[in-house]
Amino acid sequence: MVGVRERALVTGASSGIGMEIARILASQNCDLLICARRKKELEDLSKELTKKYNINCEVIVADLTTDKGINNLIKKTKNIDILINNAGFGILGNHNEMPLDRQLEMINLNIHALTRLSHEFGNQMIVKGKGKIMNVASIAAYISGPGFAVYCATKAYVLSYSRALHKELSKKGVSVTALCPGYVITGFQEVAGMKLSKMEKISAVPANKVAEIAIKSMRKGKREVMPGIINKPLPLVTKITPMWLQLMIVNKVLK
Ligand SMILES: NC(=O)c1ccc[n+]([C@@H]2O[C@H](COP(=O)([O-])OP(=O)(O)OC[C@H]3O[C@@H](n4cnc5c(N)ncnc54)[C@H](OP(=O)(O)O)[C@@H]3O)[C@@H](O)[C@H]2O)c1
Repeated sequence: MVGVRERALVTGASSGIGMEIARILASQNCDLLICARRKKELEDLSKELTKKYNINCEVIVADLTTDKGINNLIKKTKNIDILINNAGFGILGNHNEMPLDRQLEMINLNIHALTRLSHEFGNQMIVKGKGKIMNVASIAAYISGPGFAVYCATKAYVLSYSRALHKELSKKGVSVTALCPGYVITGFQEVAGMKLSKMEKISAVPANKVAEIAIKSMRKGKREVMPGIINKPLPLVTKITPMWLQLMIVNKVLK
């Protein structure tokens, strides 16, 4: 008997973690809808995956910092079983020394778009009584970040929101997983204006490994997952370390 293929939407699939997640889902025989702003990268990925795995892979070009982009994506996306809310970015620097517009765009993408897509496709999954959502947060979700203030705050939102949805939707057959990676060498660092130290590079987990762990955890219906052994103590450390000391350390690390 030939089973019906799952359909997955992956935002931010034109590079980094999202691209690797798309590759893994394709290898699991999922049909894909891949979204980002860079058309050429998406089309190249679509060609690669269609050829290698004989799946359908639809490209949707959209800027998800805008309502127009989000509406366009929602309009073109029907009947998905898996939603991967991965598109996101950060910018390093002191909040008051950077233009506000770009920081508000970060909030639009990391929070607003992710929330609208979770609501829209979560509703559709509830009607079917099944589905999977994975929201990409960060280990930054656990810290307040002088020098990375808005980014850390957006990821704290993603983690808190996803934990709550995990509980709300579990009764309706829909799983929600928050992915909290530490350093992953991707396009993220260039966009953020971030230079990793030697130690940070050593501690980085490759994007394909992060994606593999993420998809395994999502399929098990886990509430949250933090790839990389080195990152695992962070939630406990932040609970037992006084806030003034945390802020001092993060401020030093991010300088
Ligand atoms: N790399 C890390 O160290 C790290 C650590 C923790 C969490 N994360 C999170 O992981 C996620 C993926 O990041 P990454 O590391 O893979 O970085 P990346 O290589 O820069 O990928 C970011 C993706 O988001 C898309 N994107 C950016 N702005 C967009 C917009 N306005 N509309 C639609 N798509 C947009 C990009 O595509 P286009 O440019 O083509 O639009 C790209 O596909 C992000 O949520 C990030 O916060 C990363």
